[in-house]
Amino acid sequence: MQLFLDTTDTAVLKDLAATGLVDGVTTNPSLIAKSGRPMLEVIAEICDLVEGPVSAEVAAVEAAAMLAEGRKLAGVAANVVVKVPLTREGLIATAEFAREGIQTNVTLCFSAAQALLAAKAGATFVSPFIGRLDDHGADGMGLITEIRAIYDNYDFDTEILAASIRNPAHVTAAALAGADCATIPPGVFADLFKHPLTEKGLEQFMSDWAKTGQSIL
Ligand code: E4P
Repeated sequence: MQLFLDTTDTAVLKDLAATGLVDGVTTNPSLIAKSGRPMLEVIAEICDLVEGPVSAEVAAVEAAAMLAEGRKLAGVAANVVVKVPLTREGLIATAEFAREGIQTNVTLCFSAAQALLAAKAGATFVSPFIGRLDDHGADGMGLITEIRAIYDNYDFDTEILAASIRNPAHVTAAALAGADCATIPPGVFADLFKHPLTEKGLEQFMSDWAKTGQSIL
């Protein structure tokens, strides 16, 4: 499973990328606004920090304008993936990007029917929003399961990118449901390393080791 970081904070990205466990990055207009920086500059910097896919989202709502923006974003670096919303216009643009060999991440997916259309349009990734569905009283993880079954039934190549992840349990459940990737906020990513029993066990081992008076080196 590929693990992406959902962030525009390049300091945080640099820190977590040093683990070698960050396979890519996703951004969105809200995260760009939060960075307070020019979008093209942030995306270029992120693309220098990670080799994997970096999603950069269009701001236009009509296909022709999405195409113009997407081509510009794709020109920033070879690993840019153009993120488009799951709308009728977005899928028209997705199909054209596919013809042009530009990778896409179709975002704001909230139903299996939408995901089916994204795959038919030739999306590279589809992003079902787990947390926002759960907030809405729906079953976010159930959506991943449905999309997995549909994509497997028809051998679609579109990768399922579990998005709007809120906690480590979401990452585990997305992996069990067969998501190809998950995009994770930095705080949740950091929490993935932790377990209270790991900390307690390590403390005990270190204390017992100290009593031996030995040194391995
Ligand atoms: C995904 O690509 C989105 O940027 C992100 O996962 C949305 O998460 P949120 O619902 O926490 O804003």
